[in-house]
Amino acid sequence: MKRWITKENLENSPSITEAEARAARKFCVQRTQENLSTFTTAFPGAASKDLYYQPGPNLGWTTGFWTGLVWLSYEAQEDPSKKAALLHAGKTQAADFLRRIENKEDVDHHDMGFLYTPSCVAAWRLLSDDDAKRAAILAADQLLARYQPVGKFLQAWGKMGAPENYRFIVDCLLNVPLLFWASSVTEDPKYREVALSHIHTALANVIREDGSTWHTVFMNPQTGLFDHGATCQGYRDGSAWARGQAWAVYGTALAFRETKEEAYLAAFRKVTSYFLSHLPKDLIPYWDLSFGDGDGYALDPSIHGEAPFTESAGTNENGGIFQPRDASSAAIAVCGMLEMSRYLAQDEAASLVLTAKRLLKACTDTCLARPDTPTNGLLLHSTYSHRSPFNTCTPEGTEECVIWGDYFLLEALTRVTNPDWCVYW
Ligand code: GLY
Repeated sequence: MKRWITKENLENSPSITEAEARAARKFCVQRTQENLSTFTTAFPGAASKDLYYQPGPNLGWTTGFWTGLVWLSYEAQEDPSKKAALLHAGKTQAADFLRRIENKEDVDHHDMGFLYTPSCVAAWRLLSDDDAKRAAILAADQLLARYQPVGKFLQAWGKMGAPENYRFIVDCLLNVPLLFWASSVTEDPKYREVALSHIHTALANVIREDGSTWHTVFMNPQTGLFDHGATCQGYRDGSAWARGQAWAVYGTALAFRETKEEAYLAAFRKVTSYFLSHLPKDLIPYWDLSFGDGDGYALDPSIHGEAPFTESAGTNENGGIFQPRDASSAAIAVCGMLEMSRYLAQDEAASLVLTAKRLLKACTDTCLARPDTPTNGLLLHSTYSHRSPFNTCTPEGTEECVIWGDYFLLEALTRVTNPDWCVYW
């Protein structure tokens, strides 16, 4: 049995129609609107529990995605009173992000872009909100403080300079757009210079020969050169964690947007080709791209919310335990491909858009919740951190909704239904 989709199968997969994308977008906006009663002053956690997000404080690295969902919904909502409720929620949350960065609450890490781009940069883009602008600039300053001149990278986690954390991670490609934005609004080039420097180091070291990516890359604190790659959330060190590969797809597209560097276009093509050629037939990635058809259950569009996955769901035909999916990786990659299509010649752009629409069709047909699905989320079959015998992550959110999955799904639907959408990143 083939484990991954063939080029021919991919080209024969249906793509989402304009009408389907509009209907899915409408549903996502409606669900976000319904969730405001729980999540205006409180924030949903990173992953749902039994498919329901629980309210909590503005902590961790993922709360900005919820505010981003509110802003995407605000843009789409036509009913004036519903739009006003979204505006109120978005502003309330943006104000909380200002409080958080002023008080330096849980901001000693690199995820300032994930937190402050979809929340405060978006609020500034949509409303010219000065407090949101101030919050996002403070967050950019916080991110600058993670820069390590020896090695020229933004240190992801932990105490600055600690040998066990002298590393960057592939995800950071989505944090650096905050720095580009900060230079553009302050006219101070220091943010952009650090962003360019980090991207250069990251893309020179994180992509392997075959186009797969390391999750984390340790740099040598004396020489500043590549030391070794390691995974935290992927299956094993040498495998391709699906979401890391998706961050690389979107991240290289954004790097190319900023620089028009041919090398970054080449990097985009390489990582995207690896991602696409390691999907199962139904186009919804396993949590790690080393898994494919035969490693888990088939997705059934008629089963929504009754996740067929349990940790001990028996053995598959390869003799291993069933592996979970991560639909959020598909949604991120779709956004990356649609972003890159804006900068390519017509033929390559059209082909990329078509491929993105095929993945989006698979996401909406098999993973989008329906009105009667027992969940308050949007995109089912996503995985935050799945423990393997060879990784170091804390397990959380296997086969659940994850808040960035919901966000990138709605961003993708927004892009498809409104190709001129003003990008938050
Ligand atoms: N940035 C962490 C993750 O993608 O899970």
